[in-house]
Amino acid sequence: MHARVVDTVDSTIPADDRHPYRTGAWAPNHREWDADDLEVEGDLPDDLDGIYLRNTENPVHDSIGLYHPFDGDGMVHQIRFGDGRASYRNRFVRTDGFLAERDERGPLWTGVYDVPENSRRPEGWGARGGMKDASSTDIIVHNGVALTTFWQCGEAYQLDPLTLADEGKADWVHDFPSPTGVSAHTKLDERTGELLIFGYSKEAPYMHYGVVDPAGQLVHSIDVPLPGPRLPHDMAFTEHYAILNDLPLFWDPAFLADGVHIPNFFPDVPTRFAVVPRRGATSDIRWFEADPTYVLHWINAYEDGDEIVLDGFFQHRPMPPKRDGESKMMSLYRYVDLDQLQARPHRWRFNLVTGETTEESLSDRVMEFGMINGAVGGQPYRYSYNMTGKPGWFLFDGLVKHDLQTGSEERYDFGQGVYGSETPFAPRPNATAEDDGYLITFTTDVERDRSECLVFEATRLSEGPIARVRLPERISSGTHSCWTPASALGG
Ligand SMILES: [Fe+2]
Repeated sequence: MHARVVDTVDSTIPADDRHPYRTGAWAPNHREWDADDLEVEGDLPDDLDGIYLRNTENPVHDSIGLYHPFDGDGMVHQIRFGDGRASYRNRFVRTDGFLAERDERGPLWTGVYDVPENSRRPEGWGARGGMKDASSTDIIVHNGVALTTFWQCGEAYQLDPLTLADEGKADWVHDFPSPTGVSAHTKLDERTGELLIFGYSKEAPYMHYGVVDPAGQLVHSIDVPLPGPRLPHDMAFTEHYAILNDLPLFWDPAFLADGVHIPNFFPDVPTRFAVVPRRGATSDIRWFEADPTYVLHWINAYEDGDEIVLDGFFQHRPMPPKRDGESKMMSLYRYVDLDQLQARPHRWRFNLVTGETTEESLSDRVMEFGMINGAVGGQPYRYSYNMTGKPGWFLFDGLVKHDLQTGSEERYDFGQGVYGSETPFAPRPNATAEDDGYLITFTTDVERDRSECLVFEATRLSEGPIARVRLPERISSGTHSCWTPASALGG
């Protein structure tokens, strides 16, 4: 391995930090690396050709008030495969907030567990105002550009997907009428090259939906009127429709009236779905009601005759109670514990003729962060690849291939003290089946103090990785990721 540190960012996090989400598997990285000819255990297939990108909540500074793992600064980790070799690099997303805090040598904004008034720059960015747009949630490659986005809305920051060079902010966000910008979970339709987007805010109509064309121009946007401020996290699409959601977990209006942001689950309020033609108008929205829940992520959606089928992770306990014996500190983070939320695969069917919704559970296993073969996005599909969570933590301890046709599940356990990240599917060139390809994930191994990139044959997950690629240092646990084949990178 030839590795060099390109830059080191000055951190103000104290050396004796004890925060559970800034230590151990979540210990942040402050060095930016370029590394070639990575050491490989096993065999890297010659036909694995492309890049795996993963965003990470990676704080630079100590927090003002309580730290939440979604507050951290965006850091992109990249591994590039080709000709049976691998290289790695990582870079911070140089957001406006990152640069301002670098200049001030300390934190300027509170996170989601404190009030904006305590920020040193209360004007800020992000859905609430007074909050840093850390761009640390999601990543996707569109129009040859890697885009990072933030769960509370904001800018879409652009990086060269190969070099990770800073390319500023996407212009189309400023054409989008959402006052807060764009939410994480922009959705790429690989068949059309379109990017489907949404944004949400505290101002009526509370949600907007839009389409960015394959050349990176906003070509469509509409209002999606909601009854009040909501906290959607993700959207879905089929070949002809976009699906937005109005879920009954949102800032409690009783407190919001006084400017206090406390999310609450309203079990008597139905879940609602907006189904709208992808280039349709607000007046074309069809609303469907379903059982109350919260859903962090959708898996896929498709059309089936008169019905729209939507798969996602139904939270059976969206507002979990504090567990007996749990420390006060850890109980604060039960809302990111998949086991506590009881998030399980679920299917909704919306009948466009009758207006009725039917729904069913697809698995008894708690899992989330589902990935699919991108070629079947918006289309009927068979397989999803999902993460299981370590109970009590926001950490992924295993990977499950779920066959939605037979209901069978195959799991790989990362092992004691080893945590993976969201695991996308990389199709084999000229693939002959939906699962003909590879699964790629980064691991954080706190037992051996190292990180690897694991490559699996998607048809043989339970046999374990076919290749383990050593990274130059242990990297923090992280979440959203994407696979982009070399053919989509324009050289
Ligand atoms: Fe997400």
